[in-house]
Amino acid sequence: MLNIVLFGPPGAGKGTQSKKLCEAYHLIHLSTGDLLRDEISRVTELGMQAKSIMDKGELVSDEIVIAMIDAKLNANPQAKGFIFDGFPRTQAQAQALDELLEKRNAPISMMIALEVNDVELLHRLLLRGAESGRPDDRDENVIRRRIFNYNNQTAPLKKYYSQQNKFHSVYGMGTVENIFELLCATIDNKTQIKKPYHDGTVTIADVSMEDEPAKHLRAIKETPKTNLAKKAIVKKKVAAKPAKKIAKKSAPKKAKAKTKPVKKAIAKKVVKKAAAKKVVKKAALKKAKKIKKITAKKKVVAKKTTKKSSKKRK
Ligand code: AP5
Ligand code: MG
Repeated sequence: MLNIVLFGPPGAGKGTQSKKLCEAYHLIHLSTGDLLRDEISRVTELGMQAKSIMDKGELVSDEIVIAMIDAKLNANPQAKGFIFDGFPRTQAQAQALDELLEKRNAPISMMIALEVNDVELLHRLLLRGAESGRPDDRDENVIRRRIFNYNNQTAPLKKYYSQQNKFHSVYGMGTVENIFELLCATIDNKTQIKKPYHDGTVTIADVSMEDEPAKHLRAIKETPKTNLAKKAIVKKKVAAKPAKKIAKKSAPKKAKAKTKPVKKAIAKKVVKKAAAKKVVKKAALKKAKKIKKITAKKKVVAKKTTKKSSKKRK
């Protein structure tokens, strides 16, 4: 039996992908959200109780949803397996599901979390709210509240399944088809090769949430897509750094190699110039000595003539 918990925040694509996976693997889709909306549309007592809670983006009581899942498991004894979409959402629900499946000797095979950032979630749900009119998608504050509740009450279940070595995560942004392929690869790896596709780590940075929904909403609003794109560019630059370093390191070597003969030539020229200077200096000294000699001779001659003339006068 293949029992998969498809996990993720509101708008992550759980419902969309569950339908495709159920078709591909012949499984039964169990969405507590769909079951509750069905109760609301049939105006049952349970539906009326749940409606006010769902409209506010809060979680319906554990007892109600656990009882609904139990009934569905009983109604499908011949099933090849189930995809649990939007269930479990709390620690109590996860424990109850384990107990329900233990009784049937068909434990959870794996939990797969779809990782999608808040900006994309908000974008998808507001779009659906405008198009299809699902009440909890129409109000931005209710969407924020759902995301907040997911982060506070549901996301900690990653640890629960991680401890059972059943946690896997898939990047949930991109085309529906591409994400479906990733999910299939994850399931096939786990079920055929018996080796986990992921090691339990989250493939993209966990979508962080502030403690208060209001703060969280501000964070969503203040994170325009362009910022995300900038982050991606920065990441790319970081990745390109080692290549640049190598280029930088090799560049001076080449330059050195090129400058070596030039430096030698310059040195030769300098030596030549110095030698030439020496020759000129020597010549100048010689000249100076000659001049000195001549002037000395002239002085001697002059002295002699003055002596002669003084003798004559006497
Ligand atoms: P539920 O119905 O489970 O809603 P949810 O968890 O808020 O999630 P959504 O159904 O809105 O999103 P999804 O992940 O299924 O994405 P989807 O495929 O639809 O629960 C509703 C309420 O019921 C809860 O708030 C709570 O009150 C109550 N409830 C339910 N279960 C409960 C439980 N266990 N315990 C307590 N209370 C419970 O896609 C969303 C949109 O995105 C669609 O328009 C889709 O077309 C689009 N989309 C999907 N994939 C892509 C893609 N790759 N690219 C672009 N758009 C995409
Ligand atoms: Mg859904």
